Amino acid sequence: MTESGFVLARPTEHADKTRFADALTGRGGHPNRRLVVVSNRVTPTAGARPDSGGLAVALRAALQQSGGVWFGWSGEVRETVQMEPSTVADGGLTFVTLDLSRKDFDEYYNGYANRVLWPLLHFRSSLIQFSRQALSGYLRVNRTFAQVLAPMLLPQDLIWVHDYHLIPLAAELRKLDRTEPIGFFLHTPFPAAELLRVLPNHQHLIRSMCAYDLVGFQTQSDLDGFRDYLLRWAGGEELEDGVLRAFGRIVRAQVFPIGIDVAAISAQAEAADGSRHMRRLRQSLGDRALMIGVDRLDYSKGLDARFQAYSHLLETYSETRGRTVLIQIAPPSRSEVPEYQEIRRNLAAIAGHINSRYGEFDWTPLRYINKSFSHQILTGFFRASRIGLVTPLRDGMNLVAKEYVASQPAEDPGVLVLSCFAGAARELGEAVIVNPFDIEGMAEAILQGLDMPLGERKERWTAMMKILERNDITAWRERFVRALSATGRGW
Ligand code: UDP
Ligand code: G6P
Repeated sequence: MTESGFVLARPTEHADKTRFADALTGRGGHPNRRLVVVSNRVTPTAGARPDSGGLAVALRAALQQSGGVWFGWSGEVRETVQMEPSTVADGGLTFVTLDLSRKDFDEYYNGYANRVLWPLLHFRSSLIQFSRQALSGYLRVNRTFAQVLAPMLLPQDLIWVHDYHLIPLAAELRKLDRTEPIGFFLHTPFPAAELLRVLPNHQHLIRSMCAYDLVGFQTQSDLDGFRDYLLRWAGGEELEDGVLRAFGRIVRAQVFPIGIDVAAISAQAEAADGSRHMRRLRQSLGDRALMIGVDRLDYSKGLDARFQAYSHLLETYSETRGRTVLIQIAPPSRSEVPEYQEIRRNLAAIAGHINSRYGEFDWTPLRYINKSFSHQILTGFFRASRIGLVTPLRDGMNLVAKEYVASQPAEDPGVLVLSCFAGAARELGEAVIVNPFDIEGMAEAILQGLDMPLGERKERWTAMMKILERNDITAWRERFVRALSATGRGW
């Protein structure tokens, strides 16, 4: 058992069945606290399809050791509503998932979560497409999730809800008389209070955030946005550092920067070295310097500016022509949302332009790939790359930045070029920090990385690895669970 009273051992097959039954009926008392994680995105089977979202990757890594229940959307869309969840047990973890109806998918996921909250949380208010119908779909799905989850909960459970899709979930569970401690972690940024007010239902949304006992953010500035809102616009007060009273509730708000499984990523990267993929990659590169970007195809990732920075590099520093290759892996994401269709069209056009302008019969400067790869392959690619380009316009954390660093060989590490607007920049100050709105500055940073002497690369990498190891995914989970256990019951 950990400090927080949280069971780490994997249950036996028999215990697994008992838990499974408990999960469905709500009967039976578990002597220790079980962790019930809730998120929209759930990945029940490892390796079936490469995960290409930080939340799913991180939760899978976090829950692997701890076990528990992971509840959320199956990823499937049906014509009608389905209230009967599917349950799959895998070692100590039980996955409980619901399909979404077409209407829920359109209104809750595509509509409110991805066309209202996502742009708002990433400081892109001009992209917000608010409608009351989408909002009502969002609230409806949160209510449905609560109704299906509530009967499965045991009195000792710790409930940990993740991300912007499910902000109202705690309030819905409270309506059903659930009194367990409920925590919330936001994987995305949180905007400044003044920007948040653009949202027509801002007060209702933030009120529902106060139904949690603990609210966690990636960085201090995200927490500041929430705190300022409560103090300035909700008549809230700060009772002590990190403890706020607003809307008749007391909520603890803290920073928990998410980490990665450093040891596993490093080992994977090393093991990938002799693989077929790596042989093919090396053969195709010759002695050219490789630069890599890996991002979901999302407008928050700053891919167009990144491409322009590469174009500027080739234009201005002609010595880089024929001697560098940029691989940009960008798996399509949220493809039914018009803003995502537009960024996809734009990027294809910019990539085509760069390759037609600078390419040679034996050299393609930009390899732009719209498909996802497994971690096994990605970590090998990271290790072979002289530069990791992580230049989002806004990002909650950005796990790719951390994975790139953890994949590097100690004797010859590459250089991370990192946006100051990624949460990761708060911890990885030894990266080459750039402003993604400064195209020329990004081109200079790439050049600096290409020219950086081995000694400096090693120094920067060693400093970053120390930070990653200190706050890995296990430390993150344990810190949050400990803080949530300590809140006791607020109801
Ligand atoms: N990822 C992956 N395969 C891909 C692209 C991405 O496994 O083809 C993973 C990547 O390694 C990282 C996660 O998806 O673990 C992306 O997380 P990040 O925080 O960088 O961005 P997000 O997609 O959550 O905004
Ligand atoms: C970000 C969000 C996650 C989301 C992921 C992938 O990391 O914070 O909540 O799961 O992107 O997006 P998707 O819409 O495919 O779940």
